[in-house]
Formats: sequence, C-alpha cells, structure tokens
Amino acid sequence: MSDKRTIGMWLYKNGGGDAIGKKIIKKLKERNILTIDNINLRDAMARNKNIVHNGIKLNKLDLFFSYNAGEQTIYQTYLYQALNRMIPMINTYDAFALTEDKFQTSFVLRNAGIKTADYRLFHRDDSQAKLYKILKKWGGMVYKPTNGWGGTGLTKIENSDNLQSLFPTLNQSNTREVFVEKFINYDNTDFRVDIVDGQYVGCYGRKAGGNDWRTNVTSGGSVFMRECNDDVLKVAINAAKACGTDIAGVDIIYDQEKEEYVVLEVNGIPAFATPEQEKMGLNFNDKKIDLIVNLIDRKTH
Ligand SMILES: Nc1ncnc2c1ncn2[C@@H]1O[C@H](COP(=O)(O)OP(=O)(O)O)[C@@H](O)[C@H]1O
Ligand SMILES: [Mg+2]
Repeated sequence: MSDKRTIGMWLYKNGGGDAIGKKIIKKLKERNILTIDNINLRDAMARNKNIVHNGIKLNKLDLFFSYNAGEQTIYQTYLYQALNRMIPMINTYDAFALTEDKFQTSFVLRNAGIKTADYRLFHRDDSQAKLYKILKKWGGMVYKPTNGWGGTGLTKIENSDNLQSLFPTLNQSNTREVFVEKFINYDNTDFRVDIVDGQYVGCYGRKAGGNDWRTNVTSGGSVFMRECNDDVLKVAINAAKACGTDIAGVDIIYDQEKEEYVVLEVNGIPAFATPEQEKMGLNFNDKKIDLIVNLIDRKTH
C-alpha cells in the first residue's frame, strides 16, 4: 500500500457537526490522510465493479467514515452494506445495522451477559393472547417499534385497556414483529456514555421532562452534567464491544427493583456535544475526535 491514504466522510452538519468535521479533516491531514467530505450515498450509484460518487470510486478509498444519524434512507443503507464488503467502514455495516434495531441489539447484549430490560418478540398474528399473558406477569410494559428513535412510537402499557388500543395500530402497520419490554422502575434519568475504540470518551445524563417517562430530548427531556461511575462504565464498554461498534453511545438506566444498571440501547452515531452543551461543561469532543482520528489511522494502515 502506498503512503498516501484517502478516506471518504459523511458527517452531520447541524448542532456543531460542521466544525467537528473540519477538525477531523485537519487532524487527519497532519497524518497524511486526505479526506473527501460530503459523500452522501444517496447520490452514489453502482457501475459494475464500482460504487461511484461525483466521479470517485468509493470502493477504492482506504476507509469510509459514516456519521450522519437519522438521514439514512433505505438506498443509502443498501450501498453502505455493499461498500463495506470492499473497504473498512466506521462503524462497520454489521454494527451499524445491529444498533439500528432494538430487538437485535438486546438479543446480542443478553447473549453477551449484559443486562437489558426483559423483553419478548412475537409474530403480530399470534401476539394478542401472548401480550395479555406477559402483561399480567410483568405488570407494565413498553411497546417499541424495533427501528424507532427519539422516543417516538413507544407506548407504555399498564393495563388491558392500554393493550387493547395497541392492536389497531399494529394491524395498520407494516411490521410483522411485535417487540415489548418490561417497564423498568427507574428515576426518570439515564446515563449516555460515549465509547470510541473501546475507550471512555464522556458521559452525561438526561432527565425526563414533566410527566413523561422518556428521557429523550425530543420527548421533552433535558441534558445534565453527570459523572460516570465504574459500574456504568463497565456496562458501557462491554455493550460497545458486544455490538462491535467502533463508536457507540450507550444508554443506561438504573433498575430500582433489581438494583442494577440496564442497557436500553446502543446508538451507533452518538452526537458530539453541541456548542450549547459545551458551554454547560460537556467537554469530551476533543477527546472523541482524537480517538476517532487514531482509529482511522490504524484501520487504514
Ligand atoms: N423498558 C423501559 N422501561 C422504562 N423506561 C423505558 C424503557 N424503555 C425505554 N424507556 C424510556 O424511553 C426512552 C426511549 O427508549 P429507547 O429504547 O432508548 O428508544 P429511542 O430509540 O426512541 O430513544 C428511554 O430513554 C427511557 O427513558
Ligand atoms: Mg434512546
């Protein structure tokens, strides 16, 4: 391999992402790694051997760094998968696809010995009786679309009336799978722990707003400064490892009944601290950038 390395990047621009991208490009350049930015796979095409974007053969790049949450269309994801057959990607397609799905993630975490909420997955067409039964056993549960984010589509089910009103929604949707979790009694706060390359980057907390039980900022939650303790850190590092994520934001809550930390989900594209959050004191961005640059350097050697 020649000394000169070139990578492709697609990083979100909002919430300070633009400035982060520039810093990454600069630091990579210091290591003789050239970055081609703004590679949106939405605008790419496959031509026989090659996946082409703006005349550039992406499959000839030394690596592709994909970091743009929420904007991935089915087409983009499809090319992500193909491209990752030929070149290294961060995150790998497998890790990306895994963390996009809540059931698949919990299944992998459970089998790696990591605590999650108890869950069940049923086929929709024979779910009704099973759901009543499990509701009775658990007392309360959360219905989750397996591919949702930002707290949307989550339904808290506390009694059979709640459950009854879930069925029309299920029948109208395209989904075949029904995923429910036991409702965890917790203090309406969580830990978000960022891990890059197996190493601790930073931690913050989120608190649900008003009467909501969800901590998502998009559901009215708010971010606060929060120290990470050894137990939380251990859970986060193990979860990132189990999912094969080079970059992970692990969401953890404390189960007050079982008195243990539980992983709710692993985010494969956790946001950098925004300029406002940096002013609050969240100062992990530079560390995160350095770890990512090191990782890219290593994976392209
Ligand atoms: N099993 C559960 N018990 C109690 N609260 C939950 C449970 N699952 C999720 N929540 C709350 O809902 C929020 C969103 O759930 P999550 O699984 O992270 O989905 P999303 O991808 O939409 O963020 C969590 O941050 C947490 O506050
Ligand atoms: Mg979440």
